[in-house]
Amino acid sequence: MKLPTPRGPLSETLIACLRSSDVPVPVLPESSSWDDRTLSLWTLHQLHYRGLDGVADELEWDPQLIRLRVELEQDLERRLRGRFTPPTGLTLVDDFFDWADQHDGASLAGYVHRDATREQVLEMLRERSLYHLMESDPTAWVVPRLGVRAKAALMELQYDEYGAGDPNRLHHHLFALGMEASGLDPAYGAYVDDASTEILEQNNAMTFFGLHRRLRAAALGHLAAFEATSSLPSRRMAQGLERLGFPDELIAYYAEHVEADAVHEQLAVRTVLGALLEDEPALEEDAWFGAFTCLDLEDRVARRMLARWTHDEQDVA
Ligand SMILES: [Fe+2]
Ligand SMILES: [Fe+2]
Repeated sequence: MKLPTPRGPLSETLIACLRSSDVPVPVLPESSSWDDRTLSLWTLHQLHYRGLDGVADELEWDPQLIRLRVELEQDLERRLRGRFTPPTGLTLVDDFFDWADQHDGASLAGYVHRDATREQVLEMLRERSLYHLMESDPTAWVVPRLGVRAKAALMELQYDEYGAGDPNRLHHHLFALGMEASGLDPAYGAYVDDASTEILEQNNAMTFFGLHRRLRAAALGHLAAFEATSSLPSRRMAQGLERLGFPDELIAYYAEHVEADAVHEQLAVRTVLGALLEDEPALEEDAWFGAFTCLDLEDRVARRMLARWTHDEQDVA
């Protein structure tokens, strides 16, 4: 994938250093902006996925780049944990769905269902493509870190996400087909320069949880919250896309998630997290932390997009 456009001095030096071994890896400056740090971490994470155009594969494990990545991840973790208060008196497996209902934030799907224009939806697709074109990849890292029952259940869920052996059913490929049919570029990372800081942070959190074994419960808590808040919004999204005349290929991606995620949410909460927490009960707080982070970051993404759209409408009026 192409390198992103820098968003400040830190990402500018980082990108120069990824391009040329003559440029030293930057030290994290105290004063760098949230946007600059977030894009820098997102760029470093790409070395662990499909790499970046013109960047040597060996840099994935360069000690200085790993040092910078860890510093940026510590900064991210401080921010995420600072917003989280563990729930009291709840049992994760029994109370998860009620808790998720109460903590579900602003809804983009509701807006797309009734009010969004075609241009607003295209804007949303460009930003969402950062995750939907690599859907489930961050969770794949968690698999070798689990005990037998949690591993088997997570693989059952992932098998579905990856198309159950059929490349044409693979979820991130379904999204790519939908983008192409809608006249958008389906290449992974093509729209990184359009992504808000909130979207980048949402992606960074998933990769961060996936890459760190100590955060395996947070990664699975995040997955559970994601699946538990997907089925109904996917139906609204599909209906909104139909209203606006978007192509069937794109609608098919959301329609697939109406049925699939109604099953996945049960698997993710009751079987995957149920087995993990039976084996390792001390991880329950981290599972809540991951779940909270998922809903909190999605709420921030949605509010940012809705604020922009409502402001646009006021300008038009
Ligand atoms: Fe999916
Ligand atoms: Fe799913």
